[in-house]
Amino acid sequence: MTASKGLEGIVATQSAISSIIDDTLTYVGYDIDDLAVNASFEEVVYLLWHQRLPKSEELAELKQQLADNMSIPQPVLDHFKMYPINEVHPMAALRTAISLIGLYDESAEDMSDEANYQKAIKLQAKIATIVTAFSRIRKGQEPIAPKTDLGYAANFLYMLTGEMPEDIAVEAFNKALVLHADHELNASTFTARVCVATLSDMYSGVTAAIGALKGPLHGGANEQVMKMLMEIGSEENVESFIREKLDNKEKIMGFGHRVYRKGDPRAKHLREMSKKLTTLRGEEKYYNMSEKIESIVTGEKNLPPNVDFYSASVYHSLDIDHDLFTPIFAVSRISGWVAHILEQYSNNRLIRPRAEYIGPDMQKYVPIEER
Ligand SMILES: CC(C)(COP(=O)(O)OP(=O)(O)OC[C@H]1O[C@@H](n2cnc3c(N)ncnc32)[C@H](O)[C@@H]1OP(=O)(O)O)[C@@H](O)C(=O)NCCC(=O)NCCS
Repeated sequence: MTASKGLEGIVATQSAISSIIDDTLTYVGYDIDDLAVNASFEEVVYLLWHQRLPKSEELAELKQQLADNMSIPQPVLDHFKMYPINEVHPMAALRTAISLIGLYDESAEDMSDEANYQKAIKLQAKIATIVTAFSRIRKGQEPIAPKTDLGYAANFLYMLTGEMPEDIAVEAFNKALVLHADHELNASTFTARVCVATLSDMYSGVTAAIGALKGPLHGGANEQVMKMLMEIGSEENVESFIREKLDNKEKIMGFGHRVYRKGDPRAKHLREMSKKLTTLRGEEKYYNMSEKIESIVTGEKNLPPNVDFYSASVYHSLDIDHDLFTPIFAVSRISGWVAHILEQYSNNRLIRPRAEYIGPDMQKYVPIEER
């Protein structure tokens, strides 16, 4: 038995949800480039959960179901007020809150298809409220109830700020949600599938997935990218900052990928949005710095930017707090997690790989007084 470090190159399951072939990402056979330009996030959610695009009445029904399920139990809101609020990272709060709302769902342990589908809707609906309510409560503000006539992207921005978002902000945010929704067997999706393959419930699967997404090598990278841009501060500092990092063999957040070689197809959409939004906000420096970083890192290391690199300046331009970037990734990716959880349940087998043992061999127990 020889281990593949990081399971590189291992095909661990079959899936009909999304695929990455030759650096092209598709959801159920639809190219991400097509969806990014044309689809609403709700259509993508339906696509991932049903493996087909919705008809208009089906889309209207899903939107209604999401709107009807956005409220979260009061004890969850009260819970947020008990945290040492300035120290808690919103991803930790989100991980805890998803687990907590499971306690208030009477059907949490019901494994019927119908109950699991209802849980999918509840989770997708409530995660937007959790992230926005936590963000407001930690600033001493009251959470804002969703507006049932707004789409998912607009509602998120509305609940975050209490103001009706501009069309351009909704368009950009919707696109970001579409681009982050699913990504084959990425680390957090694999985590979700491993968890529910034991026939554990959906809340456990999503809670586990959030834990995996939180790390800086996965979803946590977008926050780190913004931290780096703030630290660099201006275009003229880019060159020395990045070269020093590369000389010290440090990783540059937002670059590299386990699967893509030529480039992450999602990055170009985010780059375009970053250019548009930073210009509109009079903060072109973040786009210009990002471009400069890209040219150095690709030139020196042949590493193209991934989804997290330009999403940082996009979210910053939408006035979103930097530590909410990764929770927003979760708000979108939960659609993919849920699709994979439902797929896992539909054709389940316990996921239990092997380890190549490299420890000492044939040891004999020595009584404690003789060690
Ligand atoms: C995404 C990532 C985790 C993939 O990891 P992986 O497939 O295990 O690749 P490795 O970490 O083994 O990297 C392979 C080589 O490329 C280098 N490399 C990979 N990503 C790099 C980065 N962002 N900056 C600088 N060097 C990088 C590694 O140092 C390593 O070099 P070496 O062979 O000389 O040691 C990795 O590219 C990374 O850490 N990127 C930064 C975090 C990030 O943006 N994550 C979001 C992913 S969507």
